[in-house]
Amino acid sequence: MKIVIINGPNLNLLGKREPQFYGNDSFEEYFKTLQINYPDVNLTYYQSNIEGEIIDKLHEVGFDHDGIILNAAAYTHTSIGIGDAVKGIETPVIEVHISNVHSREEFRHQSYIAPNAKGIIIGLGLKGYELALQSFLM
Ligand code: DQA
Repeated sequence: MKIVIINGPNLNLLGKREPQFYGNDSFEEYFKTLQINYPDVNLTYYQSNIEGEIIDKLHEVGFDHDGIILNAAAYTHTSIGIGDAVKGIETPVIEVHISNVHSREEFRHQSYIAPNAKGIIIGLGLKGYELALQSFLM
């Protein structure tokens, strides 16, 4: 099983950034725990603050991986390009958001990824990434 987690802009600041929304844990620490808990999964992690780099990564992994867990962060709400990339690849994508975007500002209610995602997990904190991973193993 080859699964990749792709995180978008500002998620490199997890643990330091707006803890009321995103908690106090860094993603690197959380990712290490996931790798330990799922030793049979070939699990990798990629983060970029740059829209085009996220699109390039989706193209790179989108034809040979079994699953993509994508938190495109703010680009979720703005990027037709990332939405088109998700539509254009073969690997199923699960969209994850740490916070409940529907309880926040209206501009966060729109997603360009959702129409082509296999599923969406919103508002369950970092646990959402693990639940997405488990869904690929079912
Ligand atoms: C986020 C929600 C987005 O609206 C926001 O821009 C983020 C993180 C989340 O995981 O809750 O950066 O995707």
